[in-house]
Amino acid sequence: MKVAIAYYSQHHGNTKKLLDAISEKHEVTLIDVIAKHEYDLRDFDLIGFASGIYYGKLAKQLISFAQINLPDGKGIFTIYTFGGAGKDVDAELMEVADKRHCKSVGSYNCFGFDTFGPFKLVGGIKKGRSTSGGRWTSGGCPLSADRNEV
Ligand SMILES: Cc1cc2nc3c(=O)[nH]c(=O)nc-3n(C[C@H](O)[C@H](O)[C@H](O)COP(=O)(O)O)c2cc1C
Repeated sequence: MKVAIAYYSQHHGNTKKLLDAISEKHEVTLIDVIAKHEYDLRDFDLIGFASGIYYGKLAKQLISFAQINLPDGKGIFTIYTFGGAGKDVDAELMEVADKRHCKSVGSYNCFGFDTFGPFKLVGGIKKGRSTSGGRWTSGGCPLSADRNEV
């Protein structure tokens, strides 16, 4: 199975740190959406979209990458790191996916070091959490054959 993960990780590189840990265990092609606006994803079986949460949403650069590049009929999954809480953070991505008849097969999230706004005054929150304490939802890890990985 060929897997690509498109990502945006600009605040502290939290999401990228998580993706680096994932790519040590799984064969994945990582695509930085800042460096590549266009990418041919037709050859991949599964496409992940990863970013921090900014103002309650996945990065707009990631959504625009999906709008430009997501082919029809793929399996997709989301990965995000965040400082506090959020609801329906991937709604925009799911809208793009629906239009392309792509099915979401999983989602992973965990805390990431956050010094945004007032959190800076207290030295930030959730330090050192980017690669721990997270969990796959919707039936486990789509990258692992038995889907039991956390
Ligand atoms: C401009 C900005 C806005 C943010 N907004 C939110 C938010 O709405 N909810 C939240 O939980 N975290 C928020 N955060 C914290 C980030 O989601 C968190 O630090 C994340 O791990 C950053 O990922 P990155 O280092 O890969 O960019 C925000 C951070 C920044 C810089």
